[in-house]
Amino acid sequence: MLPMSKHNSNSRRSFIKKALGTAIITGAAPSLMAKPKIIQLEPEPMLTKRYAANDQVNIAVIGMGIMGFNNLSTSMKIPGVKLVGVCDLYKGRLERAKELYGKDIFTTQRYQEILDRKDVDAVIIATSDHWHDHISIAAMNKGKHVYCEKPMVHKLEEGAAVIETQKKTGKVFQVGSQRVSSVVTDKAREVFESKTIGDLILVETWNDRQGPNGAWQYSIPTDAKAGTVDWENFLGDAPKVPYDPVRFFRWRNYQDYGTGIAGDLFVHLFSGLHAVTSSNGPNRIFATGGLRYWKDGRDVPDIITGVYDYPETDKHGAFNLQMRVNFVSGDGGGSKLRLVGTDGVITLTGGSVKIERSRTKKNPGYGGWDSFETFSSAQQKEYEKWYKENYPAEQEEKKVVEDDFRAPEGYDDNVAHHTVFYKGIREKGPIKEDAWFSMRAAGPALATNKSVFEKKIINWDPEKAKVV
Ligand SMILES: NC(=O)c1ccc[n+]([C@@H]2O[C@H](COP(=O)([O-])OP(=O)(O)OC[C@H]3O[C@@H](n4cnc5c(N)ncnc54)[C@H](O)[C@@H]3O)[C@@H](O)[C@H]2O)c1
Repeated sequence: MLPMSKHNSNSRRSFIKKALGTAIITGAAPSLMAKPKIIQLEPEPMLTKRYAANDQVNIAVIGMGIMGFNNLSTSMKIPGVKLVGVCDLYKGRLERAKELYGKDIFTTQRYQEILDRKDVDAVIIATSDHWHDHISIAAMNKGKHVYCEKPMVHKLEEGAAVIETQKKTGKVFQVGSQRVSSVVTDKAREVFESKTIGDLILVETWNDRQGPNGAWQYSIPTDAKAGTVDWENFLGDAPKVPYDPVRFFRWRNYQDYGTGIAGDLFVHLFSGLHAVTSSNGPNRIFATGGLRYWKDGRDVPDIITGVYDYPETDKHGAFNLQMRVNFVSGDGGGSKLRLVGTDGVITLTGGSVKIERSRTKKNPGYGGWDSFETFSSAQQKEYEKWYKENYPAEQEEKKVVEDDFRAPEGYDDNVAHHTVFYKGIREKGPIKEDAWFSMRAAGPALATNKSVFEKKIINWDPEKAKVV
């Protein structure tokens, strides 16, 4: 390596001088080495209005598993929401619902009985993915508002009918990627639109896990059998196979009922990214992966990594996305979304948005790892003179952490998301994660699977949300 030039060896010292000098001139705190400012985000306050007994939004939950219970307890935190009934195919979960919500609630193994009830205004659908489109469409056609879990559909070709039914019936329809309604996402969008990080060039996002539960090896009850589980009903449009409790309770591991890593988790990452950037999606998709560790009979990968081209729109320039989920993560796992621009980075975690700035220099500079050092002394002097005449002095800026916005302790974006849903019903409030938004997130996620399984690049129309 060439020795450092005088110009360069002084650069750190001169940078510190300049940084402090700038701070004094501008009166700003010296950003170098300074700790980021931690700023508490202020979410919309929880709704507190009281509603009369005859002015409740009556709900029922179809699919009373892990997320059904979670969504129900979340909905019950919102004033003016009343539980009428629940539906599930495993009797033990109906019993559990009665234990928690009282003996009087209506329970059934047939979702049609929920939809036939006149006293149900809205349904939460939290079944396995292969039922999402069927039940959403049937519910809207029966006049119910729908909160459907992600991904909106199990297969790419199922999206159009859901979009069409929502349009035809005019019912409120929202999908359950709750980060879309998070105060963290709202702040990230505001920062992104302010151009603090310049032009977006690259997005890196991941959601890694380590451990059996993270890899969907959920507990199977010891009383699971033909009498307690309605297996025939569960299969629906899936191939007919003999009863298998593992396929029923760990349905995510099978393509017949689930959508694997991409449909389950990439879809959250796409939803979050699209909510921040107002993007409709990529136009080229390439992904690859494999089953490396959780070889328990599943037919889906436990690691997928995808690369995506996002085309220029009126909201942003063209950029690239790298997305990954690794269920065998020796670092313990974790999730992040990083938007890397020409002048900085926005990093989102579940509860925070961090802004770092590092401006791309306009001037070429000289010295250091550069051909300048190879010039004769006379030429170096000449060059420096020429450089100063041709380039205006540029303020040097190093990477600095600007701000670190944090959601309040205990903040739950699922409450925010459910609040949006009920405001949509009561006040015709806007629904961001509607059928179109959701298909533009589910589509690239499902096309990721297509790319993995068919080992090819998928060309995607982000406006129409379909393969081209
Ligand atoms: N938004 C989130 O953060 C989040 C988190 C977890 C799961 N989810 C989504 O929620 C959904 C459910 O996931 P889960 O982990 O709760 O699964 P789960 O297996 O715990 O529960 C699914 C339940 O659906 C029931 N079911 C299946 N088909 C049915 C039908 N036709 N009629 C009635 N009930 C039926 C099953 O009996 C089961 O109890 C999935 O789509 C998943 O992607 C979302």
